[in-house]
Amino acid sequence: MTIQVTRVGRLNSEQVNSVLRSATLAPSTHNTQPWLFRCTGTGIEVHADPRRILPATDPDGREIVLSCGAALFTLRTAIHALGFHPATILMPSRTDPDLLAVVRPLAERTPDPKVVRLAGAIPRRRTNRRPFVSNVVPKTTLTALRHATELEHAWMSSLDVEQCRLLRDLTARARREQLADPAFLAELDRWTGLGASTRDGVPSYAMEGSPADESWLLGEFGEDHSTTLPLPLVVVIGSLTDERLDRLQAGQALQRVLLAATCAGLDASFISPPIVVRGAHAELRRLLGCGVWPQVLLRVGYGSPLPWTPRRPLEDMLLDTLISA
Ligand SMILES: Cc1cc2nc3c(=O)[nH]c(=O)nc-3n(C[C@H](O)[C@H](O)[C@H](O)COP(=O)(O)O)c2cc1C
Repeated sequence: MTIQVTRVGRLNSEQVNSVLRSATLAPSTHNTQPWLFRCTGTGIEVHADPRRILPATDPDGREIVLSCGAALFTLRTAIHALGFHPATILMPSRTDPDLLAVVRPLAERTPDPKVVRLAGAIPRRRTNRRPFVSNVVPKTTLTALRHATELEHAWMSSLDVEQCRLLRDLTARARREQLADPAFLAELDRWTGLGASTRDGVPSYAMEGSPADESWLLGEFGEDHSTTLPLPLVVVIGSLTDERLDRLQAGQALQRVLLAATCAGLDASFISPPIVVRGAHAELRRLLGCGVWPQVLLRVGYGSPLPWTPRRPLEDMLLDTLISA
């Protein structure tokens, strides 16, 4: 069934349908897809869906905003690639913190070929939790990923071998703390290792070949001796302050980085325990040592192809939008 949503600004209903479907392909914690969209006559609103908060996995509500930021960047990119300017207002409401952004498709323009390439990577991007091969990520590619982060008003650094050694220990401790919490275990059980027919959550085939303990992911191949960086790379995306707006921008930066990495033939997976466990997050800040707030930790390298992870039907993610089948 093709859902026909209302037209929005200069986008006809088919184009609205297409950009919304693209946005739903963004990554999200445990594939909760915690976003809602409302189409008004002039713009597309992006909301966090409070029913999809994970209180034990994401106690500070950081990752739900990061996930919505990733969906927002995907929406903007898809609109741009169709040849419209996605004018975006972040956090437009003083009274509704779940209304994260409004995107207004404005004047037609020739799309930037670089953004068209990013848009082409939207359906190809995957979270790859499997072992990577030992090839070194070229310095120019790492610079391009840093640049992608900065375009979205966030900051990126790559961790050296010594920092990764400390991170491995920190990740293992944070993971143990999570696994000792029955509420965390219940969420893990609800959202991961699911059958192939699931429309949300992480199916077991997406986790095959991945260890339960993320600390294994660090330093699989030792070190690139020309740079003292580990193989594969570990990068952190951070912000200068830690407000909801910073998390939203970091989420947009995350998706720009992941799409740029996909274009460069790279894969990535997430290392979340030191980000979401409060004590570990404070330790991670000290480990990074430059006063920034870490928002996302990624392992980046060259992996093997993976099947995609399913998404819910678009109509489940629409608020008060005219739909006809
Ligand atoms: C903020 C954030 C945190 C995540 N944390 C983890 C994690 O700790 N472990 C993991 O295996 N995947 C993690 N993921 C990846 C999601 O599980 C993945 O995006 C989701 O299952 C959809 O799959 P896809 O990225 O292949 O489309 C995270 C994703 C986001 C956006």
